[in-house]
Amino acid sequence: MKNIYSNIYKVNKSNIARTVKYLKKDHVIGVPTETVYGLAGNAYSARAVKKIYELKNRPKINPLIIHYNNIDDLSDDAYLNVKFIKLYNKLCPGPVTFILKKKRFSQISKIATSGMSTVAVRFPKNKVIKNLLKILKFPLAIPSANKSNSISPIKPEDIIDEFGKKIKIILDGGKCKIGIESTVVDMTGVTQILRPGIIDSKIISNILKSKVSYKKNSVKIKAPGALRKHYSPGIPMMLNQKKCDKNNAFIIFGKRYKQNKNTFNLSKNSNLNEAARNLYKIFRKIKNKEYKKIYVVKIPNKKAGIAINDRLRRAAGKK
Ligand code: TXA
Ligand code: MG
Repeated sequence: MKNIYSNIYKVNKSNIARTVKYLKKDHVIGVPTETVYGLAGNAYSARAVKKIYELKNRPKINPLIIHYNNIDDLSDDAYLNVKFIKLYNKLCPGPVTFILKKKRFSQISKIATSGMSTVAVRFPKNKVIKNLLKILKFPLAIPSANKSNSISPIKPEDIIDEFGKKIKIILDGGKCKIGIESTVVDMTGVTQILRPGIIDSKIISNILKSKVSYKKNSVKIKAPGALRKHYSPGIPMMLNQKKCDKNNAFIIFGKRYKQNKNTFNLSKNSNLNEAARNLYKIFRKIKNKEYKKIYVVKIPNKKAGIAINDRLRRAAGKK
């Protein structure tokens, strides 16, 4: 059974069988994860991976995250280390990505890792994608299902907003529970957060019993994806604002601000996880209206607020 949109498919046995067939033929599909929706293709197939880059118009220097069902499936592709295993045992499956040293004879397409000697791996929790990975004999390369620099999708219809009918199969997993991308942690040397997410540095530090940090301007070539102008609704965005006139969009947080037609509240209850979940929904809403600029109030810089502020800064071109 299809949705009213002809390319959004309900998750059932026959549609999963159809999806598996399609992936085996090196096609690319839309899939839910707990963070954001992704564009999935066989990570071992150069042909499938090329399609992902072309669809997204993604720079070749920006590597993809390779998704697995569990750690056992990883052994041909990456070197495991003690710290990684500790974090894996506590946090996976879940919204976190690890950078590991890639094995030389790994079958992962070199295009997917941008020719680097490291590989980003993730073990998603969402049942739809996890079950799919269980059935497949290969891992999936899955970037967020948006055009490069655009807003990450958090529901199936957002993928249509990004790509029209170009993606022939989108599996319907409803709305994403988390709503922003996974935390990216570099495990190849000194453990360091390259992209903040819901799993914050405190959680990671507590598990490893050593201080792990995220340095917002530490953009090494290690995270080529941490480039400016990501997640952008395409109009100027001003951060840390206190007020906004009626002609522009005003993104607010908490109960302190007056609700108007042009205000978009990330969380009335000042809940940072709720704010993260609403961020891209609000970005996309504003993008599809006629506002010239976006003003954003100051968001507390703790827990999920660190990840929200990272996305806001990049959307404002400040990173
Ligand atoms: O939550 C997520 O991680 C989502 C869902 C679909 O799983 N995926 C996602 O993928 O956000 P993408 O491609 O939009 O972001 C991947 C990030 C980029 O910033 C990229 O540069 C970084 O991971 N990355 C990938 N491989 C890397 C590597 N070997 N070293 C450093 N950073 C890497
Ligand atoms: Mg992305």
